[in-house]
Amino acid sequence: MLKTLSLAERVRQLHPSPTMAIDSKAKSLIAEGKDVVNFGAGEPDFDTPENIRQAAITAINHGQTRYTAVGGIEALKAAIQERIRLDTGLEYHSDEILVSVGAKHSLYNAIMALVDPQDGVLLPVPYWVTYPEQIALAGGVAQYVVSDPKQEGAVHAEDIANVLTDRSRGLLLNSPSNPSGAVINPPALAQIARLVSERDLWVISDEIYNRLVYDDATHVSIASFPGMRERTILINGVSKSYAMTGWRIGYAAGPQHIIKAMTSLQSQSTSNPSTMAQYAALEALTGPQEQVEVMRREFDRRRQYIVGRINQISGLSLDNPKGAFYVWVNMAAYKNRKVGGRLIKNADDLALVWLEQANVAVVPGSGFGMPEYFRISYATSMERIETGLNRMQSLLESTQ
Ligand SMILES: Cc1ncc(COP(=O)(O)O)c(C=O)c1O
Repeated sequence: MLKTLSLAERVRQLHPSPTMAIDSKAKSLIAEGKDVVNFGAGEPDFDTPENIRQAAITAINHGQTRYTAVGGIEALKAAIQERIRLDTGLEYHSDEILVSVGAKHSLYNAIMALVDPQDGVLLPVPYWVTYPEQIALAGGVAQYVVSDPKQEGAVHAEDIANVLTDRSRGLLLNSPSNPSGAVINPPALAQIARLVSERDLWVISDEIYNRLVYDDATHVSIASFPGMRERTILINGVSKSYAMTGWRIGYAAGPQHIIKAMTSLQSQSTSNPSTMAQYAALEALTGPQEQVEVMRREFDRRRQYIVGRINQISGLSLDNPKGAFYVWVNMAAYKNRKVGGRLIKNADDLALVWLEQANVAVVPGSGFGMPEYFRISYATSMERIETGLNRMQSLLESTQ
């Protein structure tokens, strides 16, 4: 390799997605013709609803094929303002909204706009794999917040207070959570809001799964608590609620000067998100909303089935997840035991045995900061879920 092509430090310290190892192995098994049940998907298995697809086609045919304003078309921003008002009760102005290339891009813009080298960012565990990497890219330091296992996996103010230092600048919150599906309840959120205000921290609140909540859970935005709107960057998008992962439209709402900085950053990196995808997102947010509920109900049905089944498998345990489309399962009972002839040290080992000997791919928790857990996505059909769980259970039981 040419010496001049040596990589910059910031990319050398980047970790490739730790969920990729199992994923690439699963894909190569599938390519070999193996019938692998893939519980790894982080996206809805439904097609984007017809009216949304048509809106993109119409936009193209009407010449919406050029650059737009960097931060998004005004009509879409207005639709986002209305969506946020319905979701949170909060009013935002157009200059407090930024449309980006997916929620991940909005998050990146927010972190780059807020985090200086050595700044501490409080990060509840388990976390979505992208957060520590984006914090590190900005030169920040993730301050991991481990929550009390008795609290059903959701972070509480006292957990955060235990980790807070003078270096802490902000908190990255994700409720409902990927990977755990945990939803922070409103009283717990109120306490977190109080702590954050007292300690003068900002919050980046990733609410991408806000419309996928179940049972008695309700989604409340931390931005809606007193004094929080002015210190919160709310992140959301159309990927999960409208089955639009490939369209790449997400958004941020927050204080005007932060949104302005994020927009400048976007103007010098990507420019506007895809024009026709913006028109599709406009239809998603302003058109009929029934499909959102149809998909939510189907996810709920699958969730209840999986939770029931996992609870019947000896040695596996889980809290009832109330949001997103993931279940987060504790496998610690299998540590230092043999499954399929292999000594199990953590969920990585168990995931490998399931993949190699039962043709089922789950995502081990090491990448999310909890190596004794694994994640199952129920964004796949009921029939595949049943097949996958049967195979996982048989392999465990055959080795008892
Ligand atoms: C917690 C969380 N935030 C953000 C995203 C990214 O969403 P988008 O597809 O809009 O970039 C994901 C996708 O997996 C996610 O799980």
